[in-house]
Amino acid sequence: MKDLKLAVVGATGVVGRAAIKVLEEKKLPISSYTFFASKKSSGKKIMFMEKGYTVQELTEQSFDKGFDFAIFSAGGETSKKYAPIAASKGCIVVDNSSAFRMDKDVPLVVPEVNAQEIRKNKGIIANPNCSTIQAVVPLKPLDDKYKIKRIVYSTYQAVSGAGRDGIEDLENGIKNYREGNDINVAETSKYELKKFPYPIFNNCLPHIDTFLDNGYTKEEMKMINETRKILNRPELPITATTVRVPVFNSHSESINIEFENEFDLDELKDTLRSFPGVILVDDIDSNKYPIATDATGHDEVFVGRIRRDFSVKSGLNFWVVADNIRKGAASNAVQIVEKLIEEM
Ligand code: A2P
Repeated sequence: MKDLKLAVVGATGVVGRAAIKVLEEKKLPISSYTFFASKKSSGKKIMFMEKGYTVQELTEQSFDKGFDFAIFSAGGETSKKYAPIAASKGCIVVDNSSAFRMDKDVPLVVPEVNAQEIRKNKGIIANPNCSTIQAVVPLKPLDDKYKIKRIVYSTYQAVSGAGRDGIEDLENGIKNYREGNDINVAETSKYELKKFPYPIFNNCLPHIDTFLDNGYTKEEMKMINETRKILNRPELPITATTVRVPVFNSHSESINIEFENEFDLDELKDTLRSFPGVILVDDIDSNKYPIATDATGHDEVFVGRIRRDFSVKSGLNFWVVADNIRKGAASNAVQIVEKLIEEM
């Protein structure tokens, strides 16, 4: 096999740094790594596999060096500008932003669910939204077996999904509380909010990304549209409420499903248990269910509180938790690169 070269774009950000960690753990057969960020970070040092690397400024010429793969996690605007340049030079881009996810020529991939789509790429493969990724992993085997009729999503999303500024808002809120300031009145909070419109500490904000004309947020519509694309169910009725909560890392979701077919609950649990990437944590007699602090640092999707929804003929409720920075972004992207290498 030829010497493979990989670039990480947005290497100094929350997802970029996680991607570097996952790459270090996976030890893919890649011979050369390059790390890009904005001009501001140019010259910064990154330790990777016990070797020092210098962060480079991303420019239009960056991809002249003949990269095979690039993992982009530097926001939608950077992806829109630079991913097509990279792809035009023969580099396959795995893009973490929402810029290309709904483009019909761009595969939207969660390897456990639709790895076969990777082959259809024309230079860009999109990594889905973090909340979508952890939902579709358990939904896929259930859809295959019982055919989903409708989904209701309610999410409880960690601040790390909003990048460094989101994490700082929660840290500053905690500091403000410890200093004895009034935390319940936004105007008197003694710190500047960097990301969220209200203090995230001591609040749940039903507002992730911007509001749209239909009353939903972009995050909610991402979950709806991306789930349909990944499950290949373009007409599937889905609704969503996405909420930011004062948790540092790992998203939690309540998922309610109605099926076309009837199911046996034990058999359904076995179906979930045997699906790659799913771990069942579902033992209410010993108070065992998935929680954010247990999911952090892992690449699997943790599922529990599995129970019938008695209000409809064939309905189910469950709770799903995953590390939004790893499986929800960095690890999923690295898994896609791994698949691309396997298929070479
Ligand atoms: P930098 O650290 O130089 O600003 P996060 O989502 O955690 O805030 O991180 C965003 C990542 O995207 C950072 O690595 C950031 O680099 C990078 N980034 C932002 N804008 C650009 C840009 N125009 N070109 C390259 N990288 C960018």
